[in-house]
Amino acid sequence: MEKILKTELKTSVLKAFGSSGGGYISQGQAYETDNGRVFVKINHKPQARKMFEGEMASLEAIQKTNIVRVPQPIKVIDLPGGGAMFVMEYLKMKHLNKYSSKLGEQIADLHLYNQKLGEKLRKEGNTIGKGASYSEFQYVDKFGFHKATCCGYIAQVNEWQSDWPSFFIRHRLQAQLDLIEKDYGDREARELWSQLKVKIPEMFSDVEIVPALLHGDLWAGNVAEDDSGPIIFDPASFYGHSEFELAIAGMFGGFSSSFFSAYHSKIPKAPGFEKRNKLYQLFNYINHWNHFGTGYRGPTINVMRKLLK
Ligand SMILES: Nc1ncnc2c1ncn2[C@@H]1O[C@H](COP(=O)(O)OP(=O)(O)OP(=O)(O)O)[C@@H](O)[C@H]1O
Ligand SMILES: [Mg+2]
Repeated sequence: MEKILKTELKTSVLKAFGSSGGGYISQGQAYETDNGRVFVKINHKPQARKMFEGEMASLEAIQKTNIVRVPQPIKVIDLPGGGAMFVMEYLKMKHLNKYSSKLGEQIADLHLYNQKLGEKLRKEGNTIGKGASYSEFQYVDKFGFHKATCCGYIAQVNEWQSDWPSFFIRHRLQAQLDLIEKDYGDREARELWSQLKVKIPEMFSDVEIVPALLHGDLWAGNVAEDDSGPIIFDPASFYGHSEFELAIAGMFGGFSSSFFSAYHSKIPKAPGFEKRNKLYQLFNYINHWNHFGTGYRGPTINVMRKLLK
């Protein structure tokens, strides 16, 4: 493996440092190389390349906005026996603490980035007609992403769709519930879902949703800071509803209230926020049920019932 890394990274020095860490999904190891420090994630599953390509595309998309710091992605490399490695810039990370509200601001700016591009394009369109600058800006007017991404180890379809509730119902909730059906055949979940599904569109009747570039898995284990500011990593990005991002951040702790207040001073809560927040929590509970088993069945059923009230 180290031989492949040396060849692929064109480095004569490859010296492991720090402790090799296992995330829940992949193994991680940091190395010194001729070109600086890198962090390598290794995964032996057959779908590892797809998973890492989704992560790499996500990091590139976030990086392009120049708003919030992410590790510079470098390369996805196949492993000879199956699986893959993902090489990125090593960043020395500490727990998010000092820069919590700064991160709140940056995530809001990330979410507003595409909308602002759209506004800029419209303004230019009104004053100077179809200028050459049109092609420079890549305003996205649909929900989805150009690559599949993984949430945990579950592959997610990101096919572009013009309507957010349809995208979210089909490619997020339904996709996760299909796996529950396959593994557990849970009747109660199936019945609650059939009632809930038809009620979702009305939760969106009062909001206008502009596609926002999301990190996509913004829980406390995927945020950090260094001396210069916040860092986010391990994204599963897509263009979606900004509120989706806040659900997981609020569910499992790790984000102080200063994160949320800084965020909402830039993006205030829209009417119906709390109910939709529950809906987005539902996605995370089902996803946890799929990843960690029946301990998450109760919370899933619970939140479905609450949403039906
Ligand atoms: N670029 C990096 N530089 C230094 N350390 C990193 C870097 N990326 C990740 N790490 C370390 O490795 C840990 C796991 O990373 P990451 O979340 O990307 O792995 P994962 O296996 O996909 O995730 P999870 O454990 O969330 O399922 C992080 O908590 C962090 O300590
Ligand atoms: Mg992670």
